[in-house]
Amino acid sequence: MRPSLIIGNWKMHGSLDSVRQLLTAILAQSESMASSTRIGVCPSFVHLPLAREILSGSSVSLGAQNAHAEEQGAYTGEVAAGMLAEMGLDYVLVGHSERRQLFAESDAEVAAKFLAVQKHGMQPVLCLGESLAEREKGISSEVVLGQLNAVIEAAGIEAFARAVIAYEPVWAIGTGKTASPEQAQEIHAAIRQRLAEKDAEIAANTLLLYGGSVKSGNAVELFSQADIDGGLVGGASLAADEFIAICNSAD
Ligand code: PGA
Repeated sequence: MRPSLIIGNWKMHGSLDSVRQLLTAILAQSESMASSTRIGVCPSFVHLPLAREILSGSSVSLGAQNAHAEEQGAYTGEVAAGMLAEMGLDYVLVGHSERRQLFAESDAEVAAKFLAVQKHGMQPVLCLGESLAEREKGISSEVVLGQLNAVIEAAGIEAFARAVIAYEPVWAIGTGKTASPEQAQEIHAAIRQRLAEKDAEIAANTLLLYGGSVKSGNAVELFSQADIDGGLVGGASLAADEFIAICNSAD
């Protein structure tokens, strides 16, 4: 039986004050959570030291939203995976659709980031998802599986024993439009099937998260689907009560 995992993606939000308040509230409420539910948060880079201090000794995991694939070098404004590993992080989001769309990250770059994150002992959360135009053309699975294949080819199927996958349809992110539980399950099943074609055990154990306008009002239905193991939550993770309500929907 796979555990549930809910990760909050705080994107470019927060201040030292609001991060302290949010984490303190999440910590206080997470104590009563089911032991089979894991939770994590991904604040901005600059808030990671504060978050690490507040979360130390707790069961709430910490992640970053991006990492550069190179070890070091003349990449002004970038942060290397090794630097993040020194912060004691558990997860790094890789290939979020905002990175793919707004910062033109290619499948090859996403795969390189995935490898760099694992090399430094952290788990990549590989984000996959189709655009609205692609869904309307009926090619959602092809697009998502194409993005997945690029990483399987670069990293090998064994690498997925130490990775999480998040399916996030681009048209559902921050739009208030959630994929229906059936639409999400269909793509999750296709992802698990693709993993299973390579390695049945890895497919059975890999956590597949859904992301895109997850809220407390739709989380129970989404998380009760056979191949949905939790969520990657943006906007709704910025309010402690709402985030905890979503986490409690997973048991
Ligand atoms: P959202 O974002 O929950 O605000 O739609 C999800 C994400 O981008 O990870």
